Amino acid sequence: MAEQVRTGHFVVAVDGPSGSGKSTVSRRLATATGARYLDTGAMYRAITWAVLRSGVDPHDTPGVVKVASDVTLTVGTDPAAPHISADGVAVDVEIRSQEVTSAVSAVAAVPAVRERLVAEQRALIDQPAPIVVEGRDIGSVVAPDADLKVYLTASAEARAMRRSAETAADVAATAAALARRDRLDSTRAADPLQQSADAVELDTTGMGIDEVVDRLRELLVARTTR
Ligand code: DC
Repeated sequence: MAEQVRTGHFVVAVDGPSGSGKSTVSRRLATATGARYLDTGAMYRAITWAVLRSGVDPHDTPGVVKVASDVTLTVGTDPAAPHISADGVAVDVEIRSQEVTSAVSAVAAVPAVRERLVAEQRALIDQPAPIVVEGRDIGSVVAPDADLKVYLTASAEARAMRRSAETAADVAATAAALARRDRLDSTRAADPLQQSADAVELDTTGMGIDEVVDRLRELLVARTTR
C-alpha cells in the first residue's frame, strides 16, 4: 500500500516565478493531502485592489502604506474554493484584472505591506491543520521551518504559453509582462523572489500537472513519515 502523508500539522512552501505552475500545483497538492491552501499572491493583489480603489498611485509609498494598514482582509484556505475579501467585498475576480496585475509588483515592494502580510500569513499557517502555501518568499521568509520547500521553475516560453492560455492574451505581450514582473519581484530590496538553499527545485517545463503533484506528494511523504 502507498505510504500516506502524516495527518498532523505540516507546512509545504511553494515558491517560484509567475507561470511556473505554483497555483495549480499547490491547490492540487493541498487537495491530495487533505491540507489547507494559501495563495499569498492573492493577498498582495487584494491590497493592490484596495490601493487602486482608493485612487492612490501604487508608487506613492506613504499612500500605499496608509491603505494597507486600514484595509481588512479575509482569506479562505479551502483548496476547493479559495476566497479573499477586502473590507468585506469579495475580490476574487477583480484581483486578476490587468490593472491589478500591472500594479502589484510596486505594492509588494513596500516593506510595511510585506510586514503586515507576512504576519497574517504566519498566523494562518500556525492554525492547527496542515497547509500548502504558495508565493515568492515562503521558504525564505514566511515559513523557513517548512517541512518541504519547493522552488518551481519553467522556461520563459512555457510560462508565457500557460499564462496566455489562462488570460486569452497574446503570447508575446504576456512574455514581456512576465519578464517585467519577474525582474521587479527578483530585484526589490524587501524579501525578493529567491530560491532557498534547502528547497527542492523542480523544472515543470514539459511536465504534466499530475506528474508534478505526484512527485511533490512523494517528497512530502518522505519528509513527514520517519
Ligand atoms: O503569484 P501572483 O502572480 O498572484 O503574485 C502577485 C504578485 O505579488 C507578484 O508580482 C509578486 C507578489 N508576491 C510577493 O511579493 N510575495 C509573495 N509571497 C507572493 C506574491
